[in-house]
Amino acid sequence: MKCNVLKLLALGFVMLLLASCGKTAQVSELNIVPEPVRLEQKSGVFTVKTLLKLRMENLSQNSQTFGYVKSSLRKLGFRPSFVSGNTQGDFLFELNKEYDGEIGDEGYVLDVTSDGITVRANTETGLFYGYQTFLQMLPDDVCRTAYSKVSIPACSIVDYPRFTWRGSHLDVCRHFFPMSQIKKHLDIMAAYKMNRFHWHLTEDQGWRLEISKYPLLTEVGAWRVDRNDEDWNYPRNPEPGEKATYGGFFSKEDVKEIVEYAAQRHIEVIPEIEFPGHCCAVLASYPELGCRDTQYCVAVADYWPPEAIMCAGNDKVQEFLRDVFDEVVEMFPFQYIHVGGDEAVKKHWETCPKCQARIKELQLNNEAELQSWLTAEIEKYLLEKGKRIIGWDEILEGFVTPSCTVMSWRGTEGGIAAARKGNDVIMTPVSPCYFDYRQADSLYQPQAIGKAFRFNPLSRVYQFNPTPVELNAEEQKHILGGQCNLWTEYIKDNEHLEYMLLPRLCAMSECLWSPLDRKSWERFQVKIEHHKDRIAAMGYNLCWGSFKPMVTTMPDAEGTRVSLAAEELGTVFHYTIDGSDPTLESPTYAEPLILKPGAMLKTLAEYRGQKREGVYSFSF
Ligand code: ACM
Ligand code: ZN
Repeated sequence: MKCNVLKLLALGFVMLLLASCGKTAQVSELNIVPEPVRLEQKSGVFTVKTLLKLRMENLSQNSQTFGYVKSSLRKLGFRPSFVSGNTQGDFLFELNKEYDGEIGDEGYVLDVTSDGITVRANTETGLFYGYQTFLQMLPDDVCRTAYSKVSIPACSIVDYPRFTWRGSHLDVCRHFFPMSQIKKHLDIMAAYKMNRFHWHLTEDQGWRLEISKYPLLTEVGAWRVDRNDEDWNYPRNPEPGEKATYGGFFSKEDVKEIVEYAAQRHIEVIPEIEFPGHCCAVLASYPELGCRDTQYCVAVADYWPPEAIMCAGNDKVQEFLRDVFDEVVEMFPFQYIHVGGDEAVKKHWETCPKCQARIKELQLNNEAELQSWLTAEIEKYLLEKGKRIIGWDEILEGFVTPSCTVMSWRGTEGGIAAARKGNDVIMTPVSPCYFDYRQADSLYQPQAIGKAFRFNPLSRVYQFNPTPVELNAEEQKHILGGQCNLWTEYIKDNEHLEYMLLPRLCAMSECLWSPLDRKSWERFQVKIEHHKDRIAAMGYNLCWGSFKPMVTTMPDAEGTRVSLAAEELGTVFHYTIDGSDPTLESPTYAEPLILKPGAMLKTLAEYRGQKREGVYSFSF
């Protein structure tokens, strides 16, 4: 017994010693992303030490948020303890007894003084976001370096989001991503106060969700013949008898784990179960649900145009969808379910006797209205279960019920039309919200979707405003927010996935959280350089930037006046005008150049001490 006590004392001593051996840091400048509504930096500091006393007001130590804070602090090397009664803590979390109308359901008030840190909020979500802001006050490398003392500036922050829908979508069908990666996705969403995880679970290339009543969906539909080493655009059809070995799916237990993991991070999960199109995996599993008496297979790569479609004239399809949604509703507690509806090529409906008979029976005008009818039938069923549906903007093509929410992706036009009709809208136009598009010059990027003009660099993402000016104030109220979408046709592994997501997610978060008058690209450029380091220290891969110079020209008496600009702060352009290729020793661009007619300018970017991308040539 005595021996154990001695051991414990020795252990405690070693731990204290370790704690006191860590690095110390003084943070002088706050670089919070997304930018808070109000932030006032004050004089003085508070020193956060390894041993951190937490205090809760009106909040149980068993609360989810508190559990998260505790384990997050421990992961960073802090040793949180709890105090109550008259003892003053270093870090106070207080749930307001009286609702503060300004900050609403997700906002918080954070104060740092020389005595400590206080976060106040109306909800645990607000406290959680206040804590995320605190984390960003710590040094950029805090995730990989143990600090024994960090002085953070005294400040006062009042903060709340501009939009309630701050979404991030992930396609796990074109390529499959494991549980650990889904959790990593949720972690980074939480760090940037994103709150809706749109999980794209069914596709031509794979069905990824366990459904007990239809086991073939995952026995057959979750697997495809492996063509991962081949060009996505020109897939070789499977040979007869070739085994389907690539894929995977999420069991009900997995889903429960993800939904809980997300909830701990104040993120709601929206499953997307597509109908009537993008359904090769369904028809490969249950061919009787299609219009044609044919053998379908799970698409091995590109499948375009996506002609496979569920037979809207067959009652079995509605039965199937009802059964599937019965189970989906049990797995996903959030109010919204995404039903897809995009790119449903109706060629087979045009010639299918059952579909044509249905159109006649219901006196519908065309196949688009047949899709609308099927969507409305399923929506009715889901509404009875207390759920609301979301569909891609194609659902506007026939008729749309007022209760369904439209996700505008082909541009903002669908969203504008829907808001004018009185439907709620989530804006996610391909430009700039599709993160499967390149973020830098295609010559230096991994393969991505389509041609080089599909280009959504960080600066363009930062311009995103989900509220189109075409809408009046009343119509604008229907814009719930926006979302970035990550389709994975060309993304096969975790590293590439993170590269496409980051740091663009940070820009998106500021577009969806911060008031318009608090957004500043120049200020964001400064902040993002810190956040790139933070993200790297958190163990994510990321894209460091787009280094092709942005060139502007003006006529000049002696030729052309040429200005170069960089997207990434700290980029230096080296240049030549004698035709030779520039090196890191070539002159650096400092001010606009006057170039004679016929001149050739060659540039080379240097960023963080390294050559980036290649040599670019410009003639004038
Ligand atoms: C989509 O990108 N097809 C919604
Ligand atoms: Zn049919």
